[in-house]
Amino acid sequence: MAAALGRWPLGLALCCLLGASLAVDRGNFKTCEQSGFCRRQRRIQPGNSPYRALLESLELGPDVARMRLVNEATQVPLLLELWGLSGNVTRLRIQELNPLQPRYQVPDVLLGEPPAERLEVTGRDEGTLELALGPGGHRLLVTERPFRLDLLRHRELLCSVNARGLLVFEHQRRRRDSDPPKDPPGEEGAAQEGPEDGAGSTQSEKPAEPPAEPEEEPGAWEETFKTHTDSKPYGPTSVGLDFSLPGFEHVYGIPEHAESLRLRPTEGGDPYRLYNLDVFQYEVFTPMALYGSVPLLLAHRPRLSLGLFWLNAAETWVDIGSNTAGKTLFGKLLDYMQGGGETPQTEVRWMSESGVIDVFLLLGPGPADVTAQYGRLTGTQALPPLFSLGYHQSRWNYQDEADVEAVERGFEEHELPLDVIWLDIEHADGKRYFTWDPSKFPNPRGMLERLAARKRRMVSIVDPHIKVDGGYRVHSELRARGLYVKTKDGNDYEGWCWPGSSAYPDFTNPEMREWWANMFAYDQYEGSTEALFTWNDMNEPSVFSGPEVTMHKDARHFGGWEHRELHNIYGLYVHKATAEGQIRRSGGRLRPFVLSRAFFAGSQRYGAVWTGDNTADWEHLRISIPMCLSFGLAGLAFCGADVGGFFQNPGPELQVRWYQAGAFQPFFRARTWTRRGASPWLLSPEHLAMVRAALRRRYALLPVWYTAFYRCHRQGIPVMRPLWMEFPDDPQTFAMDDQYLIDRVLLVHPVTEPDALGVNVYLPGEGEVWYNDETHEQHRAPQTLYVPVTLSTIPVFQRGGTVIPRQDRPRRSTEAMRNDPFTLYVALSPQGTAQGDLYLDDGVSFDYATKNAFLHRHFSFANGTLTSSSADPRGSMSSPAWLERVVILGVGRPDSALLTTHDGSQTPLQFQHDPARSVLTLRRPGVPIGADWSISLR
Ligand code: GLC
Repeated sequence: MAAALGRWPLGLALCCLLGASLAVDRGNFKTCEQSGFCRRQRRIQPGNSPYRALLESLELGPDVARMRLVNEATQVPLLLELWGLSGNVTRLRIQELNPLQPRYQVPDVLLGEPPAERLEVTGRDEGTLELALGPGGHRLLVTERPFRLDLLRHRELLCSVNARGLLVFEHQRRRRDSDPPKDPPGEEGAAQEGPEDGAGSTQSEKPAEPPAEPEEEPGAWEETFKTHTDSKPYGPTSVGLDFSLPGFEHVYGIPEHAESLRLRPTEGGDPYRLYNLDVFQYEVFTPMALYGSVPLLLAHRPRLSLGLFWLNAAETWVDIGSNTAGKTLFGKLLDYMQGGGETPQTEVRWMSESGVIDVFLLLGPGPADVTAQYGRLTGTQALPPLFSLGYHQSRWNYQDEADVEAVERGFEEHELPLDVIWLDIEHADGKRYFTWDPSKFPNPRGMLERLAARKRRMVSIVDPHIKVDGGYRVHSELRARGLYVKTKDGNDYEGWCWPGSSAYPDFTNPEMREWWANMFAYDQYEGSTEALFTWNDMNEPSVFSGPEVTMHKDARHFGGWEHRELHNIYGLYVHKATAEGQIRRSGGRLRPFVLSRAFFAGSQRYGAVWTGDNTADWEHLRISIPMCLSFGLAGLAFCGADVGGFFQNPGPELQVRWYQAGAFQPFFRARTWTRRGASPWLLSPEHLAMVRAALRRRYALLPVWYTAFYRCHRQGIPVMRPLWMEFPDDPQTFAMDDQYLIDRVLLVHPVTEPDALGVNVYLPGEGEVWYNDETHEQHRAPQTLYVPVTLSTIPVFQRGGTVIPRQDRPRRSTEAMRNDPFTLYVALSPQGTAQGDLYLDDGVSFDYATKNAFLHRHFSFANGTLTSSSADPRGSMSSPAWLERVVILGVGRPDSALLTTHDGSQTPLQFQHDPARSVLTLRRPGVPIGADWSISLR
């Protein structure tokens, strides 16, 4: 409780009012040294691994290879399993051969059992075994002593495992002088099979001698942090493994950290931590954990991208090292064989508190192959409803219905487009979620209907902590049904959160999720309508009175599992149950929109995420770019940062710059704690005009966003992309994170410095050209271009060789522009060609998937002719929207422009040509956007 008081609202109020700079209270969160297993593992230095692979134990199934590993010091046997999965993915799993209790294997993340290829033994000598993994030319060398794996493609070494000998598998043991722990996991209504019931059982064989126990350091069976003691009834159970990536100097991913896109070496500091935490007033450029975790790391070098997906939901730390000196003999030999001198190499070491080692090596070879491989394993970004790509306005708190009305009127009066207004916790009756404060929101349905009539929507917050109050239906039902998380002693787990004493629904229990999903039915969530969507906050879970502001690790979940095992996936389950609830309330017809603060691998299937409570300063504006780029690489394409900054007041310049940047990030929501940020019209008329322009720019480009999201949904390629994804062989782009691409078409360089007069923009691509999106000036690439700026704009460039569709008429919301005409911007490559596409559907339902009710057009310009054809003949939707204009960039003046429609009729088009900028504007082709046509310039 003390933590809660120190946290909100007094501390915040004081520091915000006094304008003091904000700082995270580091003492609230563990360092590696304070986290027992991290400390134990990090003390183990690279060297000879005690593990030996028993090559003779190899059993080759049709698609899996199994063999035993043994720790020569303790004689404890492990089971190693290897798969060559379809599409260039190798999986390796290590678990105890004879665990005392089953160990947690993360469920509900993988889309299914990934299909595997046939494995073959292709070589064997005394100390090594060679396996061929499917048709991709991948081979795995298993070395017996010390155990290591080397993964090769033909003769190229891609990755070595345990090359530094940091494999750690703390086997389960009985505490000396004590009884076995009661109530082992997996016993009551087990959520999953333990390894004894599964694959390992065929090989199961009790060791002859009970294993010798290593000396245990203090903290192995109980650990205290601040005032919190973690009883560890199962003792030390951590796992860890190292991966060497020869030739790689750039690694990315493992969100969430307020960090540069390229991860930095962690030597001499803490490793990057993955442990979902509510970190109050987080700072930038630290490896500290934040609200969400995706244990996916990407590595990139010219001609090769790789991914390491470490499927473990327990507290995890990741060390990144770069070295040439510490390279193993094998690595050096390989350098020699490959004819090079010393190549750089990145070392990655994963350490998790519990669970098993289950790793997917995503073998690319291109960046988009890696993101697609990850998407096939864990799912791709759900296609957002179109409105959610518009602009969102949020404040803690809009007071009442009149306040909502006034805010909406403000947008209307100032001609600012707006799609969604958000309500924070105060809208509910005493923070009892799923209810409304009867005096402030007496008629929520009327309010929602008014908004819907103006083609707008609302989001209300529904947090996963439930007020302990016998008179609150949600609480009494969950308690009666036994659906809360339990303490280690079997009582309902209670902690302190916004409503005061709160209990925490056990979302890992399918019955709980079912119950929760049903709460979104219109007759259960009273006052809700189709226009109401959801924000899940505090789902790390945040427990003000708990250790590190979260749940005790020895709390118990469904199946008897400790919270320790699954902490990082709790938030995903909240998100999932909420999204399912929204789908269900519409009878399965409509797409959900749910924003979640906590996340894990797979959260992309359920909606959007954001970077939490940021601060209104330039650093936080700057960091929003690499943060969202990292999210996107890890599958979470629908990412945003609170525009304007949540804590403190942005000055007008920062606020304008943030709108300009936010308009080019996937999830576009302004949110603040203060009044000014919440109502852009409190700015001067001059600044307000700049905000309006930024908003309109966003709306005009919605067709680009939506098409990019569709591609992402289908192929797993992020919407907001680091430059290196599109220019993978240009090392200049590898560490860039102040500029990026939207889809492959637009390059954006937000202005993130005060008083900027200009910025240096790197235009990549040998022999390519880029067009300034506003002036249409043409620039050759590659080059670093100094672009002068004023406060009214930021540099945006369209890539030569692309076509982008826009809807240029200013409207009040996305729904209002649904049938608006389109303009095509055709930016020619130096070869005089261009390609692009447009995806459309009803914007709200699943009919695009279930009934092919979509329209996907392909545009292509070559030999002086622009052609529109179907990009996907399955699409059966028609649209009343038509083509209003075509703007061709980088073209000379033609004598004529002739439109040919699908029935063969021909019409000359009027046009204008600007010779100074080589811009041709063709007026009113007037054809339906879904039709086949061509325009020839002669
Ligand atoms: C938490 C969230 C913040 C939210 C507040 C009230 O502090 O981090 O975003 O506004 O709760 O719900």
